[in-house]
Amino acid sequence: MGRYDDYKQRVLRISQRLSADGYFGSKSGSAGNVSMLVEGEDAVVVTPTRMQYDVMAVADICVVDFDLAPIEGEHKPSIETPMHIATYKARADVSAVIHTHQTFASALSILNQPIPPLFDEVTLAIGNVIDVVPYALSGTRELHDNVARKLANRCHCYILQNHGTLCIGTDLDKTFTFVELLEKSAHIYMQALATGKPITVLPEKTVAQLHAAVIARQDREIARKQTNH
Ligand code: 13P
Repeated sequence: MGRYDDYKQRVLRISQRLSADGYFGSKSGSAGNVSMLVEGEDAVVVTPTRMQYDVMAVADICVVDFDLAPIEGEHKPSIETPMHIATYKARADVSAVIHTHQTFASALSILNQPIPPLFDEVTLAIGNVIDVVPYALSGTRELHDNVARKLANRCHCYILQNHGTLCIGTDLDKTFTFVELLEKSAHIYMQALATGKPITVLPEKTVAQLHAAVIARQDREIARKQTNH
């Protein structure tokens, strides 16, 4: 078994699940991308660019360093790899990144509408807001810079204006759950907005407590990584 095979298997498994569940916008296309940070290395394991998920194999997953130099794999990495690397550099608590084109969050992306704190279990998982990253063309430096600026809010999900989403976490399974919670929240928020009636959000004090718990969890993960390396 190769040095990065376990990472590659996990990236492939989650990518195919996201695709089969429709989170990439189509079940047969190649949109979206997934990566993991290699623990203790400046290297990422990432899906290849423009490859359908249902035909993707472990050997197709790429490993590149932070300068995009190839370490393993014969395909070009996702065009959004620099956005994933920018995320790992900006957020020491993050070891997994998922970029989707999921339906209801994408609807909010064209309304340029952040999701306020609506449910306590979602706020405890994702943080106090699901903010919108201003539009820039896919794969560009401008998009990576716009993302990097928003990451300072220490949340786990972002809506990319007129594009899709970015979900980040300590591992791929938890990040997959953030993708699901984001879609649930976006779906309910859209339905509620469509009634035209006023929407209630969580009380400010509760939001502050829940967000503090999110930050404390991140700080514990950063300390764990520092102890291990
Ligand atoms: P890749 O196929 O290069 O990963 O690009 C897909 C995408 O969603 C770009 O934003």
